[in-house]
Amino acid sequence: MKLIDGKAISAEIKAEIKTKVSKMIDAGERTPHLAAILVGSDPASQTYVASKERACKACGITSSLYSLPENTSEEELINTIEFINSDSEIDGLIVQLPLPKHINEDKIIQHINPAIDVDGFHPLNIGKMVTEQPTFLPATPMGIMELLKRSNIETAGKHAVVIGRSNIVGTPMSILLSRKTEPGNCTVTLCHSRTKNLEEICQTADIIVAAIGKPNFVTAKMVKAGAIIIDVGIHRVPAENTKKGYQIIGDVDFLNVAEKCSYITPVPGGVGPTTIASLLLNTLKSYENKKINHK
Ligand code: GUN
Repeated sequence: MKLIDGKAISAEIKAEIKTKVSKMIDAGERTPHLAAILVGSDPASQTYVASKERACKACGITSSLYSLPENTSEEELINTIEFINSDSEIDGLIVQLPLPKHINEDKIIQHINPAIDVDGFHPLNIGKMVTEQPTFLPATPMGIMELLKRSNIETAGKHAVVIGRSNIVGTPMSILLSRKTEPGNCTVTLCHSRTKNLEEICQTADIIVAAIGKPNFVTAKMVKAGAIIIDVGIHRVPAENTKKGYQIIGDVDFLNVAEKCSYITPVPGGVGPTTIASLLLNTLKSYENKKINHK
């Protein structure tokens, strides 16, 4: 079994970004800028946003955080989005999800200018992704494609099983793996909570992407010997014999599955870091698009 080292791969990508950004600044250009909106005080979202800010700083990208209270109305949030949309020097805008229950996420996402939608969540960008036109790809599946590519894993003709159909991960992942790209060209099965014979389907998978949001969901008996395992899950579970009193685990029963598979991503240190690196790549891409459009 080989560990897919997401931390090392993301460090590689971030080093490439940092070099590009410092060259641009040396040439007298402005700094790329990523803005994030966080509504409320969900601890997991606060952690994600803080990691994104740290990564921007490490790569020389400016970041700004618009932190809004839990009781922000849809209208106030839309006003903030429009304020950011109108700033020509902001290259990327993300609205951290999930949003509080009283806010309609689909409606909010439609207000983000597709040209700076570096999450790739706007319906226009999703349409472009599906039809294989250049666009911003959602960061988690894009990071997974980067992990496969930089680990030299061949995917063409393989059976990929994606578990989970969220808009953020499972659905775009199934599209990217099936596209005429390398990595890509897979035969994809998208499984979810209503799938009847999930265990048998997984047993036929050459690649499993677990994004179901349930700790240790994928067990060794669901995995074919030699399969490639990508774990998107991230859960904090109590662990008595640790200093912190908790442990971070994924959607895959790591220790038992690792004995059977050919490649596996650890949690933490697998998919998470490349998600952030992909967001920065998209921000840089948006910056470059703006330069081209202003010529
Ligand atoms: N919440 C969990 N993952 C993501 C993501 O990739 N982007 C945003 N905006 N919110 C998230």
